[in-house]
Amino acid sequence: MSSAPLLTDRLGRPLRNLRISVTDRCNMRCRYCMPEADYVWLPRQSILTFEEIGRLAGIFTGLGVTKLRLTGGEPLLRHDLPTLVSLLAGNSALHDLALTTNGILLQRHALALRAAGLRRVTVSLDTLRPDRMLEFARSARHGDVLRGIESALGAGFDSVKLNTVVIAGYNDDEITDLLEFGRRQGVEVRFIEYMDVGGATGWSPAQVVSQGQILQAVERRYGPVTARHEGSWAPAERFALRDGTVFGVIASTTAPFCRTCDRARLTADGTWLLCLYGEQGLDLRELLRIGADDAEIAARLTAGWKARTDRGAEQRATLAERGVLHQIETLRADPRREMHTRGG
Ligand code: GTP
Ligand code: 5AD
Ligand code: SF4
Repeated sequence: MSSAPLLTDRLGRPLRNLRISVTDRCNMRCRYCMPEADYVWLPRQSILTFEEIGRLAGIFTGLGVTKLRLTGGEPLLRHDLPTLVSLLAGNSALHDLALTTNGILLQRHALALRAAGLRRVTVSLDTLRPDRMLEFARSARHGDVLRGIESALGAGFDSVKLNTVVIAGYNDDEITDLLEFGRRQGVEVRFIEYMDVGGATGWSPAQVVSQGQILQAVERRYGPVTARHEGSWAPAERFALRDGTVFGVIASTTAPFCRTCDRARLTADGTWLLCLYGEQGLDLRELLRIGADDAEIAARLTAGWKARTDRGAEQRATLAERGVLHQIETLRADPRREMHTRGG
């Protein structure tokens, strides 16, 4: 257990959860995240090293962080990720160490990641149809993703989950097929509302399938579902079918959960962000590389979190006319605004 005193922000939210993007690169081009033809990648030397990530993780756990998730881009594109996992798993203050991946390379790495101490894996799976994935995510590797999920299931993780972003006119006719797939495999599916985050340059309100619509689709096939009312700090609200199958809905667009947001994120190049929609971040890489000691960095993080008032998704939800968050030119000028750089 961490013995750190509880550090809370201006809205009383603790800092417990850190999402670290380990690379901005990706081997898919999902339309909700990387729809453009070309991307500007972060320069290699600005990406945090494993040692830098490990050191920062230690400072964060000293301030109360107990949950850590590695994301990207596609985190498995980062060379030798199990080495980073074992470095982080050695931090006894961490109760949870998880990975979000698109699954393409998971078959190759699942056992090594588990052996290194990774506890949980979440795989993105938006469609069961290879032709759709080819068109929507410009990837022909649907089979690899399915094999990746199977490998994760065989590797002995504490949990394997699936993330499905539901988009009108793309995969909203597959909601129950995906749930059925999850049920057969014994993995929890979480349906995610399409968000107007940086990177989603094709977003429009008409493409959002709301939590209500998702539940309607499920109930049409399975009958009434029961909300589990867990009152947790996780973004997903969980529901159960009559046979006990549990699934989640992450309603970040229509019913944001900023009030219970205990998450901060670290971009692949070491900028600490207090919100998925955050504009200003703290450049921790700079602090590390000019030789700041742990106490100095911890003091900066403490001050930053104490001043935090962010509730980006809630503010977006109050807009009368909601459109794309950032145009492509703005994203190119600062790639840290991209979801794949700040961590999906
Ligand atoms: P669990 O610990 O398994 O509950 O994971 P999680 O739900 O925190 O993590 P995951 O990476 O699976 O997140 C699922 C999705 O929720 C992300 O891909 C985002 O779409 C959304 N999400 C995660 N964190 C945030 C956040 O801080 N703000 C908002 N608005 N959405 C988030
Ligand atoms: N809307 C919702 N979720 C998104 N993700 C990325 N972009 C978006 C978006 N615009 C999330 C998905 C994906 C993960 C890597 O990031 O859940 O599975
Ligand atoms: Fe947290 Fe910002 Fe997401 Fe709201 S929008 S849940 S404050 S990260």
